Amino acid sequence: MRLTAVSRTFGTGPGAVTALDKVTLGFGEGSFTAVMGASGSGKSTLLQCAAGLERPTAGTVTVAGTDLSRLRESALTRLRRETIGFVFQSYNLLPALTAEQNVGLPLRLAGRRPNARAVRAALDAVGLLDRARHRPAELSGGQQQRVAIARALVAAPRVLFADEPTGALDSASSRTVLDILRTLVDEHGQTIIMVTHDPVAAAHADRVVFLADGRVSGTLVPPDAPTIATHLTTLESPTATTALHAGSPNADSAHADAQEGAARAAAAQPQPAPAPVARPDVARADTTRTDTARADAQAGAARVDVGRADAVRADTARADAQAGAARADTVRADTVRADAVRADAQAGAVRVDVGRASSVVGEAGC
Ligand SMILES: Nc1ncnc2c1ncn2[C@@H]1O[C@H](COP(=O)(O)OP(=O)(O)OP(=O)(O)O)[C@@H](O)[C@H]1O
Ligand SMILES: [Mg+2]
Repeated sequence: MRLTAVSRTFGTGPGAVTALDKVTLGFGEGSFTAVMGASGSGKSTLLQCAAGLERPTAGTVTVAGTDLSRLRESALTRLRRETIGFVFQSYNLLPALTAEQNVGLPLRLAGRRPNARAVRAALDAVGLLDRARHRPAELSGGQQQRVAIARALVAAPRVLFADEPTGALDSASSRTVLDILRTLVDEHGQTIIMVTHDPVAAAHADRVVFLADGRVSGTLVPPDAPTIATHLTTLESPTATTALHAGSPNADSAHADAQEGAARAAAAQPQPAPAPVARPDVARADTTRTDTARADAQAGAARVDVGRADAVRADTARADAQAGAARADTVRADTVRADAVRADAQAGAVRVDVGRASSVVGEAGC
């Protein structure tokens, strides 16, 4: 996966915010990268552009050799379903569904019948086979996040993105989640890109990429928590320039492929100090923005395939009735459908081919 000169601007005119500014980065197969930086520095935007959930304003994103900017919405949706998994800080599980039903949801949304073996394998990978029949309210936060990871893994994605996956967890649960991510990389060659504010979490990665004002301000290979913390302090100080910490050559070659090496070299070029007047709103806007607001804004761009959601509702209602766990009454089914639509829009997992406009009846999040 590679990002080349990727920029993303929100809004126009004097109020425009440049969330990403010509970011060039490579992510080798089977590598684990942590992305760090101050609030509002563009980390989530970077992840969403890389995952095809946001379209960059400029530049290209290449996943498994495919340039995402050349894909129409339907092809992008397909590629995302087949090659990308996404884990959010707030889990985004559907409360009415059991753990295994939540894990099988991406398959249902792709119009496939969830393969029980694949669902169980994904739950097993996160150590939750024994909680398969539990609903989210019956699980701890750490367990819910592990279900969310299993859901992201069920379609065997080439790349797993995680946006602050341990942000809502206590330190013990965080460690469990981070160990699972590390194991996925070491034992299954999974490629992972994870945003985190926590130096200890970032130290589980092979490399840390630091963002400041939408630009790559440095990389650290291999990362260790104290050095990461020191670097973050530098970044957050008002007089911070774009100090860089280069990794040792040995560790570097152990972890980085040619792409990464090139990207690191590019990142290691001294970057001009950010122009403060160009982005006056970056920090301020961020402090007033909630996750919900952001999800709504994203969702504004996504259209929901209600036909698909109906299929999910029908399937879910049937499964519930079969399991005797719930009555497939209209109220329940409507709740499930509304939840599915909302969570899915948030997750950006359902984007609909505009060509299927006849079945598109609303905007997500509404
Ligand atoms: N949909 C949007 N509309 C307008 N501005 C946006 C949108 N998404 C992000 N931004 C702006 O882009 C900048 C980068 O946002 P982003 O969410 O990528 O930051 P972040 O580094 O993930 O921050 P945090 O650590 O707080 O999650 C912020 O100033 C934010 O306000
Ligand atoms: Mg963020």
